[in-house]
Amino acid sequence: MRKYVGIVLLLAATGWVAVSAQQAEDPAPVWAYGVPPLSQAGPAPGARAGGRGGRAGGPRGAGAGRRGAPPAPQHIDGSKFEFTSQQINNGYGPADWFPEDHPTMPDIVAHGRAPEIRACALCHLPNGKGRPENAPPAGQPHDYILQQLADFKAGLRHSAEPRKENTAEMIQIASNLTPEEAEAAATYFSSMKWTPWIRVVETDTIPTMRLQGNIFYSLEDGTTEPLGDRIVETPEDNAQARLRNPRVGFIAYVPKGAVARGEAIVTTGGNGKTLACTTCHGPDLMGVGTVPGIAGRSPSYLVRQLYDFQQGTRHGQLSSLMKPVVAHLTEDDMVNIVAYVSSRKP
Ligand code: HEC
Ligand code: HEC
Repeated sequence: MRKYVGIVLLLAATGWVAVSAQQAEDPAPVWAYGVPPLSQAGPAPGARAGGRGGRAGGPRGAGAGRRGAPPAPQHIDGSKFEFTSQQINNGYGPADWFPEDHPTMPDIVAHGRAPEIRACALCHLPNGKGRPENAPPAGQPHDYILQQLADFKAGLRHSAEPRKENTAEMIQIASNLTPEEAEAAATYFSSMKWTPWIRVVETDTIPTMRLQGNIFYSLEDGTTEPLGDRIVETPEDNAQARLRNPRVGFIAYVPKGAVARGEAIVTTGGNGKTLACTTCHGPDLMGVGTVPGIAGRSPSYLVRQLYDFQQGTRHGQLSSLMKPVVAHLTEDDMVNIVAYVSSRKP
C-alpha cells in the first residue's frame, strides 16, 4: 500500500485522496472483508450489536418487508414458490426457492438447531454456493469440510479482521455441532459439483458502492468511483440478492491486467515469489484429494483466506502447506492471483 503515499502527495488537493490516505493506514485488505477503512468507520453499516438474532447472512430491508410494511409475498422468476421477506431470512428455515437444484437438505442444513445453530442454508444458501461475505462450501472434499469445522471448533481458524462478526458466528456454530450433524453437512455440501457464478470484469471505474452487511451494493444512481487496487464483488442484481435468489450470481470488478498478471503467478509461482497453485490445487484448480477447489469461487472470500493464512489467524491442521505460499505475497499479488483464480471455469 506504499503507493498510496505517493498518490496522496501528488493529489493532495482532491477529495478522493482523503479516502486513499485512510486506506493506507489499514493493515488488512478491508475491501475483502466488506468493512470500511478503519479511520472511516463509524458503526459498520449493516453491523448489528450482539451478532445474533438478526440476519448476519444478509442485508436489511429485503424486498417489501420493510419496517412497518405488511409482509408481502415475493416472487422469483422460474420458482413456483412465494415467500415473505421474513421467511426468506428465517434463520431456522430460510426460503428454498429451487429445491430441484440440489439434493434433499439434511435437517441441520435446512433448519439448523435453535438456538445455537442457525441453518447452514441461511448463509451458504441451499445450493452451498455461499455469498461473498461468507464461504462457498459446495463441491469441497468431504474430509476438507470436516477438517474446517474441527479447526473452527479448536480455535485454529478465525478472521484477521475483528469486525467480521459472521466468522465469529461460524465458529460458534462449528463448536456446537454434534459429530453426526457435521458429518451430515459435509456429506451434503461435498455431494454437489461446483458451478461458478462469478463474472470477472477488468476495469478502472465501478458504480458507486455502499457497504451493507459486509457486501458491496451499487447505488444504482449512474455515478461512479475509482476501483483502485481493490477487487469489489457485488451482486449482478441488488434486488435478486436481497431475495437470496440462488441462481443470480456476482460481478467481481478487478484492476485492468490483473487476470494475466495472476495467471503468470498461479501457473509458475512468479519467479520464486510463491509456489505454483496448480501443483496442489490441481491443473484446473478444482482441488485434489483433501486440497480444496479454488477455481471460480468468490474472490473476496479467497483474498480473506490468503490474508488470514499470512496473518496466522487461519492455522488449521492442513494449513502448513499454505504457509510458504503466502509468506511473501503483497496485497497486489493477492489481487492479481485471485482475479485469475476466480475467473477460471471448471
Ligand atoms: C451466519 C452465517 C453462517 C451460517 C449460519 C453458517 N456459516 Fe459456515 N461460514 C460462515 C462464514 C462467515 C465463514 C467464513 C468466512 C471467512 O472466513 O471469510 C464460513 C465458513 C464455513 C466453512 C469453510 C469453507 C471453506 O471452504 O473452508 C464451512 C465448511 C462451513 N462454513 C460450513 C457450515 C455449516 C456446515 C453450517 C451449518 C451447520 C454453516 N457453515 C452455517 C457463515 C455461516
Ligand atoms: C503445497 C501445496 C499447496 C500449494 C502450492 C498451494 N496450496 Fe492452497 N491450499 C493447500 C491446502 C492443503 C489447503 C487447505 C488448508 C487448510 O485446510 O487450512 C489450501 C487452501 C487454500 C485456500 C483456502 C480455500 C478455502 O476454501 O478456504 C486458498 C484460497 C488457497 N489455498 C489458495 C492457493 C493459491 C492462490 C495458491 C498459489 C498461489 C495455493 N493455494 C497454493 C495446499 C496448497
